[in-house]
Amino acid sequence: MITPLISVRNLHKWYSGVHALKGINLDVRPREVCGLVGDNGAGKSTLIKILAGVHRPDQGQIRIDGQLVDISSPKSAMRLGIETIYQDNSMVPTMSICRNLFVGREPLLFSIGGLGLIDHRRMREEAIQAVANVDLHLRSADALLSELSGGQRQGVAIARAMHFKSRVLILDEPTNHLSVKETTKVLTFVRMLPEQGVTGLLISHNLQHVFQSCDRVVVMARGEIVLDKAIEETSIDEISESL
Ligand SMILES: Nc1ncnc2c1ncn2[C@@H]1O[C@H](COP(=O)(O)OP(=O)(O)O)[C@@H](O)[C@H]1O
Ligand SMILES: [Mg+2]
Repeated sequence: MITPLISVRNLHKWYSGVHALKGINLDVRPREVCGLVGDNGAGKSTLIKILAGVHRPDQGQIRIDGQLVDISSPKSAMRLGIETIYQDNSMVPTMSICRNLFVGREPLLFSIGGLGLIDHRRMREEAIQAVANVDLHLRSADALLSELSGGQRQGVAIARAMHFKSRVLILDEPTNHLSVKETTKVLTFVRMLPEQGVTGLLISHNLQHVFQSCDRVVVMARGEIVLDKAIEETSIDEISESL
């Protein structure tokens, strides 16, 4: 049996009075794309925010490659190779595409005692390459993120995850607010993750999208997992009934 890339055991989360996660058990295999669906309030975002280091679980264990980990911050998630793209995008609109790609991970010309001089030329060259690698063609790496469409912004976020060789890419409703054409593009990115060596976790309320781009589907309801099946072993009808 293959060791799961992510293994979650008996995960609980309370927000004051709300029991948002009630003993979640989930294994995600390396290079699979797992769809996570469920009604509003089911606990999907809470689960992925715990994996992204935004929230701490109140109880339970998380293993990455079989090793027990403590994902104490977004930085520690990043160090474990977990990158997250939120629906409203986690990037800074007033910064350039280039700066957004490298924020917190700028290449340095040199560094003394933790302080360094950013290598802007290298950053710009790598940014252009990173963006082209996800088949996104932008005029300049210096353009502001605010000048891009929603789909292009998601493309930049995906390019960032690819460039820094993330092992896990979590996408929380990445196609919200996107046009049909842009949505297709984002779903194509998602479908291509395994061949890039990346494991995906896609949250979506659109079952068609999940069936198009995932290998597996996990349904959450009221803080619990109520269904977990390979895509070829289930149907949109069965998932709809379980919601
Ligand atoms: N920061 C928060 N503070 C208090 N309650 C929250 C917070 N985030 C989520 N919740 C509650 O936790 C439950 C699960 O929410 P969430 O994980 O956002 O579900 P989903 O993403 O599936 O819609 C809901 O009842 C929601 O109201
Ligand atoms: Mg949510």
